[in-house]
Amino acid sequence: MNDEFDPHWGSATLGVRAAEPRTEEREHSAALHLTSSFVFDSAAQAAAVFGGQVPGNIYSRFTNPTVHAFERRLALMEGADSCVATASGMAAIMSMLLALLKSGDHVVASRTLFGSTINLLNNVFSRFGVSTSFVDPADVGAWSAAIRPGTRLLFVETPNNPLTDIADIRALAGVAHATGALLAVDNCFLTPVLQKPLQLGADLVIHSATKYLDGQGRCVGGAVLGDAERVGKDVFGFMRTAGPCMSPFNAWVFLKGLETLSLRMRAHCAAAQQLAEWLQSQPAVERVYYPGLPDHPQHELAKRQQQGFGGIVAFEARGGRAAAWRVIDAVKMISITANLGDTRSTITHPASTTHARISAEARQAAGIGESLLRIAVGLEDPGDIIADLSRGLGAEA
Ligand SMILES: Cc1ncc(COP(=O)(O)O)c(C=O)c1O
Repeated sequence: MNDEFDPHWGSATLGVRAAEPRTEEREHSAALHLTSSFVFDSAAQAAAVFGGQVPGNIYSRFTNPTVHAFERRLALMEGADSCVATASGMAAIMSMLLALLKSGDHVVASRTLFGSTINLLNNVFSRFGVSTSFVDPADVGAWSAAIRPGTRLLFVETPNNPLTDIADIRALAGVAHATGALLAVDNCFLTPVLQKPLQLGADLVIHSATKYLDGQGRCVGGAVLGDAERVGKDVFGFMRTAGPCMSPFNAWVFLKGLETLSLRMRAHCAAAQQLAEWLQSQPAVERVYYPGLPDHPQHELAKRQQQGFGGIVAFEARGGRAAAWRVIDAVKMISITANLGDTRSTITHPASTTHARISAEARQAAGIGESLLRIAVGLEDPGDIIADLSRGLGAEA
């Protein structure tokens, strides 16, 4: 491992240079250690490594140099002491919850969390005695009001999906710490390039590496980040025992993804801003949701806690579901798929896809109407993205 790095480097430099694994072959691009186990010179050496007296790799469920390089680089970018890579973003959330909570504990979570996260809390953890209250992510008073004697964790995603509401991380850290609870932030939409939740007072960060960390729609993976005790010991210990680990191949893809992350995030932001401003000028568009627009309700907060406004733009087409579906059915370039964080722009109708499984009342409470569309802005020329959308909006690009 080439450990020569300066933690004060910017995100772009850390992404390219930090924790670069280098073997004695002196390769310039990271080697991929695609092996399930590692060998020892002797019985005594095996015993010493297994016993923890001597550092060394044992088995790729919990010690693999390529996975470790990805963990170290992402930890440096987030400003975390420890990182545990996982098989998916959902495996990261499950590992964090199982490692840190016990029966009888209570969670306060944003009601606009990713659907599978809500299902995990409501339908799985509830069976093991962990209860959850869901609140409006932007209403700090609602978070405080939901705290109970057993509250151990506050869990938020900011900006939220698909409406791009921003939660105040510093304020929520204050609410959590006043009651002895922890604050976890799902930083999937902004990545450490645009937001560093730990610096704002959060205790834990979750990633779906599947999204922008890969950035090219190839692999599924995730990560939990935080301090050496909770993540380095508790989450790592859970991972070692239970095994929802990241494959070395995927770690290698994500490690290479981190090298271009800063550049890509800046390009996603610039194109999203251009698209949001164009959409706002269209008569067939009723409302645009993008934190980079001055009329976004948390525009000032976004400017304070983020280093960019992100690549997700949502808007309401005038004319309900029929108008929204017309926009989707008229695209020729943009991909009709719910994934995000890809080089390719994607379009989705949340009410009939990502949020179709929740009740109509819950959808309404979350502000997800029939006319809403979400665009995850990719890396194509912004003019081509606008031209592709203009057909369904009856507009001149
Ligand atoms: C904000 C957020 N968190 C977590 C996840 C889950 O990640 P994965 O699909 O890698 O399990 C997703 C997936 O879409 C997501 O959007």
